[in-house]
Amino acid sequence: MIRGIKGVKDITPDQIPKWTITERTAHALSHAFGFHEIRIPVFEKTELYVRSLGDATDLVEKEMYTFSDRDGTSLTLRPEGTAGVVRAFIERGLKAQPSSRKLYYIGPMFRHERPQAGRFRQFHQFGVESVGNAHPDADIEVITLLWRYFSALHLPGLVLEINSLGESSDRQEYIRTFVSFLKGKEPRLCGNCQRRIHTNPLRILDCKVPLCRETVKGAPSITEFLSQPCQQHFDHVLRGLRLLGIPYTINPCLVRGLDYYALTTFEVSCSVLGAQNAIGAGGRYDGLFQTLGGPPTPAVGFAIGLERVILALPESALPQPDPWVFIASFGEKGREAGLSLLDSLRAEHVKADTDYHASTLKTLLRSADRLGATYVVILGDDEVAGNRITLRNMVTKEQVTYPLSTASAAIVNQLR
Ligand code: HAM
Repeated sequence: MIRGIKGVKDITPDQIPKWTITERTAHALSHAFGFHEIRIPVFEKTELYVRSLGDATDLVEKEMYTFSDRDGTSLTLRPEGTAGVVRAFIERGLKAQPSSRKLYYIGPMFRHERPQAGRFRQFHQFGVESVGNAHPDADIEVITLLWRYFSALHLPGLVLEINSLGESSDRQEYIRTFVSFLKGKEPRLCGNCQRRIHTNPLRILDCKVPLCRETVKGAPSITEFLSQPCQQHFDHVLRGLRLLGIPYTINPCLVRGLDYYALTTFEVSCSVLGAQNAIGAGGRYDGLFQTLGGPPTPAVGFAIGLERVILALPESALPQPDPWVFIASFGEKGREAGLSLLDSLRAEHVKADTDYHASTLKTLLRSADRLGATYVVILGDDEVAGNRITLRNMVTKEQVTYPLSTASAAIVNQLR
């Protein structure tokens, strides 16, 4: 037997109700906030991700699924959505379409990470990108959508951490100070971080290795290096969150793993998840359009890991399943009438089903019970001869009789 790939999950029918509610809520809230859906390809030229995410990031160094096309072009399965959205925005001239300034997407992403609970090699993100607005109100809007999404799904134990990385010049100055703080402390850093001093020093700040956490304690904080406009931007965002009652914690070590961020960065963790507790994250990336050859364009967005949302989703967030009808038809005439009734209910988009293997009322009722039907229509030859059907409510056991000729309309009425 050929098995599936490690870290790549099937989503089986029993899990679909949870996926449906997380995706429906994403569509509904995105629309409520004025975002429009975009669908971008699942693979792009490798260069797009190398340039966007940064060649010294873990994602680019170790986690991309990269392969050669037949003509030798290097292609990569998308590890995230932001780079593709920005590429599409520039290439398709979406700036000219006012409805394309606020975009959202839902779909699979691919990262070659070590699989564990909540960490997969194919996973799904719901992401939003708000393009063209440098005002901190755009940051507030995006963070509010993120928070309201989690609230709508009743996710427990959420913590929103927020930071500002300032502009490039603030960051360069901070990095110089931080690197000199680390001078002589190299042996007290993990191997990865010893390398990061030369490639990506900011990442040392959010390394999870206890030794590194200990070593960076007492390091100067990036927030002390913000220029006045950056500080004002950050203060405005925080004020907006307070105004909207969104609780946050400032974490000066939150630098995020991708190079395109500047100014606001944020991450939401969920305490009911294990080690992989980051459930959604994002920030501002005003420089990315230029990096990818576009005009200077400010932008801010987030992405949420849907597998992690589903792991944290309480049963109470699941809606009641729609009521549906099982047609228990038997006998020659009964089965014919049952087939027609099944078809007319389905044409009205009412869920209706039967069991073609069962042929007696007893086995049909057993089948209806096993499948969890809300209602059962009893329809045998006698019912056809008497122009009637019996509709049984499987929960209350109440029964009503309707004329067979108008049964479909009566059942639709009953169910709506
Ligand atoms: P990210 O932090 O790399 O950001 O990913 C966002 C979320 O995707 C994470 O918080 C996590 O919930 C989920 N995630 C990441 N890797 C995995 C995995 N291997 N298995 C399961 N879930 C995972 C981004 O992707 C940015 N593009 C976010 C963004 C949008 N920034 C601005 N706009």
